[in-house]
Amino acid sequence: MNSASAAQPKNSKTASSATHASGDKRFKMLDATIKRYQYQQDALIEILHKAQELFGYLETDVLIYVAQSLKLPPSRVYGVATFYHLFSLAPSGAHSCVICTGTACYVKGAQAILTELEKSDNIRAGETTPDGQVSLLTARCLGACGIAPAVVFDGAVLGNQTAESVHEWIHHCTAESTKEG
Ligand code: FES
Repeated sequence: MNSASAAQPKNSKTASSATHASGDKRFKMLDATIKRYQYQQDALIEILHKAQELFGYLETDVLIYVAQSLKLPPSRVYGVATFYHLFSLAPSGAHSCVICTGTACYVKGAQAILTELEKSDNIRAGETTPDGQVSLLTARCLGACGIAPAVVFDGAVLGNQTAESVHEWIHHCTAESTKEG
């Protein structure tokens, strides 16, 4: 189900030269860096550094891609990315909401959630609410396809989400900031 795994080459010698299904050119540039380090797992920090430079922050999709390219468990890559302060896992918002748009989640309505949020909250993927409270992100398969559509709210993966549940969470975060402000 994973977009990056779908592009896994057949032979192990070239196993890390996967191309990202999104067609996003930044993944090609990231590939060039990974190749330059000869797919060495020891180069994880340098590679994450390059990824952050390319993407601005290390979204789930990028971390999974790096993990697959280096044949490392995603947990190890997450661990390193969260340990070092120089890495940022989310853009500017105080809260983050990552909607999985992988195949299983897409089929179960992830796109409908995004479309609805655009209407109800005037926010699109990659954007942050005007009050700086919530950044809306997307990822391609969180590895939780069984509970699709899956959404990560501030790092907690919840399944079977709807536009309404996500809207409520965003509303809750922005309302809290109004109270505090
Ligand atoms: S497609 Fe796998 S968790 Fe969404």
